[in-house]
Amino acid sequence: MRLIHLSSVFPLLLASVFVAPVFAQDPPSEETINFFARNCASCHTIGGGRLTGPDLAGLTERRDSDWITQFLIDPKGTIDAGGEYEQRILAESRGVYMPPVPGMNAALAGKLIALIEQEEQKEKSQFAGVQVSDRPLTAADVKKGRELFLGALDFESGAPACVSCHTSASIGGFGGGNLGPDLTAVYSRLEGRTALGAWLSSPPSETMKPLFADHPIESDEVLALVAFFGDEAASGLEQSESQSLPFLLMGLGLAATLLVIFDLVWRNRFRGVRRSLIQEARNA
Ligand code: HEC
Ligand code: HEC
Repeated sequence: MRLIHLSSVFPLLLASVFVAPVFAQDPPSEETINFFARNCASCHTIGGGRLTGPDLAGLTERRDSDWITQFLIDPKGTIDAGGEYEQRILAESRGVYMPPVPGMNAALAGKLIALIEQEEQKEKSQFAGVQVSDRPLTAADVKKGRELFLGALDFESGAPACVSCHTSASIGGFGGGNLGPDLTAVYSRLEGRTALGAWLSSPPSETMKPLFADHPIESDEVLALVAFFGDEAASGLEQSESQSLPFLLMGLGLAATLLVIFDLVWRNRFRGVRRSLIQEARNA
């Protein structure tokens, strides 16, 4: 058995020795793979369809490596200075610009292009996409997502509650932080379940990345947050109502309080001044 097995495999082994040099390319280093996973995979798949950004499969057939390198070094500049192609990929991303990539240079761009080329040849790339479960979302998911958002329920990894930096319509302007944007419309802005799910699985935000890299959001928590944001987007509440109205009221309330305080203070002072003037007049 064993002999037969070996001998039948031998021609294959022989063939691979001759064929291999044709494909000879340094395999992408662990470092490049990790870089892509941390910095790109939350917005791009390779062969798994678009997320926030386009699917990168077939990239080198669409663009030459000079363009890609230039784009990676200065994404927004390349789009703004570009023509029809650039306007189209921006429009297809609903006007979301790709953020600048920290530490990008021509050498790193070259390694990433090589990685993309090798991954797109695979039957299934390791970057074919984060699998966000497609089971129906329930009211229980929405509730759990809301509790995670508010910090009423802890993330398993100890990730920080979203409400410390974000608000959303049903939470209202007083409830949330404003270091990050209002997330009422984020479900549709980041193109729904799959893309938002991938985004949250490894947040590419400069502010969030350092906090979430070692404290990732577990997949069932991602699903709950996606359900919550889907519910927020469907609620019909406008983020501006939730944010500006309380602030306007707060502003008016503050102004009124200050007026009352000033009035009391000045009236007393004025009385005091008048009293001393009258006193002086009498003494004169
Ligand atoms: C926050 C989301 C986001 C991240 C993170 C991101 N991109 Fe992008 N990327 C986009 C968007 C959106 C576009 C479409 C162009 C635009 O609107 O700026 C794009 C376009 C591209 C393109 C041009 C694609 C084409 O079909 O012409 C390449 C190449 C690319 N990105 C590579 C990368 C690489 C490599 C990384 C990691 C170093 C990365 N991107 C990280 C969002 C992102
Ligand atoms: C320390 C503050 C902080 C925390 C905590 C935080 N975020 Fe963010 N988030 C930001 C900032 C700031 C941005 C805007 C992008 C940037 O400047 O990095 C952002 C952007 C986002 C975006 C993209 C919005 C858009 O329109 O592009 C989403 C989605 C998001 N956060 C979701 C969350 C969720 C969900 C949580 C909780 C698990 C969370 N964030 C926790 C600060 C935070």
